[in-house]
Amino acid sequence: MSIPIKLDTSYLAQEVTPEEVYSWQAHVDFCHEMLHTRSGAGSDFLGWVEPKIMMPAAEVDRISQVAARLRAGSDVLVVIGIGGSYLGARAVIEAIGGPDKDRIIFAGQNISAHYHKELLSKLEGKRIAINIISKSGTTTEPAIAFRLLRNYLEEKAGKEKAAKLIAATTDAKKGALRNLAVEQGYETFVVPDDVGGRYSVLSAVGLLPIAYAGIDIKALLESAAKCAEELKTADLKANPAYYYAVLRNLLYNKGKGIEILASFEPRLHYITEWWKQLFGESEGKENIGIFPASVDFTTDLHSMGQWIQEGRRSIFETFIDIEGGEPDLIIPNELNDADGLNYLAGKQVHEVNQEAYRATALAHREGGVPNSSIVLPKLDEETLGAMLYFFEKACAISGYLLRVNPFNQPGVEAYKGHMFALLGKPGFEKQTEEIKKRLQIG
Ligand code: PA5
Repeated sequence: MSIPIKLDTSYLAQEVTPEEVYSWQAHVDFCHEMLHTRSGAGSDFLGWVEPKIMMPAAEVDRISQVAARLRAGSDVLVVIGIGGSYLGARAVIEAIGGPDKDRIIFAGQNISAHYHKELLSKLEGKRIAINIISKSGTTTEPAIAFRLLRNYLEEKAGKEKAAKLIAATTDAKKGALRNLAVEQGYETFVVPDDVGGRYSVLSAVGLLPIAYAGIDIKALLESAAKCAEELKTADLKANPAYYYAVLRNLLYNKGKGIEILASFEPRLHYITEWWKQLFGESEGKENIGIFPASVDFTTDLHSMGQWIQEGRRSIFETFIDIEGGEPDLIIPNELNDADGLNYLAGKQVHEVNQEAYRATALAHREGGVPNSSIVLPKLDEETLGAMLYFFEKACAISGYLLRVNPFNQPGVEAYKGHMFALLGKPGFEKQTEEIKKRLQIG
């Protein structure tokens, strides 16, 4: 196996043996067949399975060129989108950085007046560009943010110049955003028809903001594509993504209904947010599904650590372990050792963090929390591209093993119907009266 990530299950033997995992081979073969012959539920949404086909080289070049043009014409790129339309980009940019990462602001993920007021005042005096991302083109949160920010940009730069500083990533043909983009002459990118939001990070949805940050999008994509090749086997002995998928299902069947993804790297916070959306929206339906939770260690060891160590034993844990490639930073010696920390003097900070990880994993295992680790030799385009694909493939198979459609999200519509009725959206008039009665409001 040559993908630059490893699944370490060496401490899981008490809860799940490799033999138990391998005994699921026939189920996995069945699900693998459904995925690769596009014959299972949600088969219209499998464009992500082949990253290279999803993103032809010419389109990747166009993304790089537009990113460079927007970067040259702005101080800040405001990326507007919600859910799958922003989490992947944010996760990659925060994890890897890139020379221009601090020039990116994410908006459109809430309807807070306070947030938007603050954002507008923070942008004062800056030259802004906008990447509005919405597959449907009608999602309320990004639509509100876009209207506010578009007005702001048009006021500052004039309508014509503003149009050149806006890129819209949306459906190829339909939706309000597509119509607006065509009418105003914005640069446009397509969210492929056969790719859902949470599987779209390696499409233009994620790649344009990632390229603006100065991250090597070709390397990211190349690594994901290599990983896709490696993970084309259904053999559980050769496919760690499938092994992980089976592991989760086995633990779920043993009463562990919650998976916690834990990392000791603050810059992975949004990777865990992306992962939660990926697995939560893919698996949580029909009254089943593993609940995906996440923690940032060591911070959360001082809060959620108590629950994890001694709370209800319904959890299992997956760590993301970054082995190396971290900055050289040594804890200094002090003559009087007033803080009693000289026992650490001369050690690398990363070394101490790694011991914190090993200690935590052991303590949690001893407390009845089965755990395994996704191990990355370092954090860069190559390892991250592979890990994103690894999780996508694992999620698809895990969903099929759970017997749900991992590519739809009917549940996210429920609140929208009520909200539109309350807000009096045209077409929801009947529901408005009815819902007001239910809420006992006038
Ligand atoms: O994964 C998904 O499909 C969702 O999270 C969507 O990405 C999210 O609801 C935003 O939708 P849209 O891109 O249509 O604005």
